[in-house]
Amino acid sequence: MRQVVFPPTGRPVGAIGYGAMGLSWAYDRRGLGERQKRAVLETAVDLGMTVVDTAVLYGGGANEELVGAALAHRRDEILLCSKTGLRARSLEPPRTERCGHPDEVRRSAEDSLRRLRTDVLDLYYLHRVDPEVPLEETWGALAELVAEGKVRHLGLSEVSTAQADRAHAVHPVAAVQSEYSLWTRDPDGSGVTADGEPAGDVIGWCAEHGAAFVPFSPLGRGYLAGTLGGRTFSTDDFRSRNPRFAPEAMAAQETVLAPLREVAERHGTTPAAVAIAWTTVAGEHVVPIPGTSDLGHLREDAAAAELRLTAEDLAVLDRVAAPAPRY
Ligand SMILES: NC(=O)c1ccc[n+]([C@@H]2O[C@H](COP(=O)([O-])OP(=O)(O)OC[C@H]3O[C@@H](n4cnc5c(N)ncnc54)[C@H](OP(=O)(O)O)[C@@H]3O)[C@@H](O)[C@H]2O)c1
Repeated sequence: MRQVVFPPTGRPVGAIGYGAMGLSWAYDRRGLGERQKRAVLETAVDLGMTVVDTAVLYGGGANEELVGAALAHRRDEILLCSKTGLRARSLEPPRTERCGHPDEVRRSAEDSLRRLRTDVLDLYYLHRVDPEVPLEETWGALAELVAEGKVRHLGLSEVSTAQADRAHAVHPVAAVQSEYSLWTRDPDGSGVTADGEPAGDVIGWCAEHGAAFVPFSPLGRGYLAGTLGGRTFSTDDFRSRNPRFAPEAMAAQETVLAPLREVAERHGTTPAAVAIAWTTVAGEHVVPIPGTSDLGHLREDAAAAELRLTAEDLAVLDRVAAPAPRY
């Protein structure tokens, strides 16, 4: 796979990473066995998707356990990333609560290290800012973990540039992870964070500050791959409560897929690969983390690293309009 340097770690990584969330959280996992989950993680690394993303939240620790069990023997090959500051209030249906208290963050780091079977995390993100705790306090506790050698770098998720500035004044922000895809363009300066704050140009902020920008849900949580058809979702799949996946919205949004299919056909590839490649156009500091539980899909997603979109392709893809609000 094409390599890029993951700033500011200085480490070469695959241009496309892998997000492990869906193996333990948020999506319907009926029929998905332990062996398949491990095979997906191993194959992701085999394919060069070496930025591996998990979180305390996913499955209430189960996803970190899984990543630890599957990849501990390949620890040196991957940039191991997890997140704290958001935990599961209920597992089924998946519901969350924020927890940015310094003691909680410190405790959760110990749990992450144990579950991931490592003594240092490459990147630990604050998953969400806790409105009850000043960002500087949570970030200060995370910075202590770096000083103690338990974490190498710190990241933020779904923040505005104003919040990134506040954190950066305390300790360098190495990465910002936000939802970014053809139909969720908020972090380019045009939209809002998950909390409804004006986002600012988060992608540009990262480039200026030597940080990585990590698009999450680059496939629009599966929709942009164009294979969902008229699918409906069980209540333990979070899309059953997302306005973009209501049956009438799914049908109305079909027009989003035509430009993707047109560009995919031109390159002899899939809409999924085109959607992922599009997220990387802003620069080599952008490393998306698509998620899948399917080995065939994984190969399609990895192929996005070699796909170079032309100016003509980008003009076609600009026709993809933002649909209903993302939550
Ligand atoms: N920081 C945050 O707050 C946050 C929030 C959400 C996610 N994330 C991170 O971002 C990662 C990716 O996000 P995501 O999983 O929500 O969304 P995504 O990558 O946009 O989409 C995942 C969905 O797309 C499907 N898919 C993947 N590749 C496909 C292909 N080639 N063809 C057809 N379908 C395909 C998967 O189904 P199959 O399993 O059937 O392939 C899955 O349902 C997560 O794993 C997590 O690490 C972070």
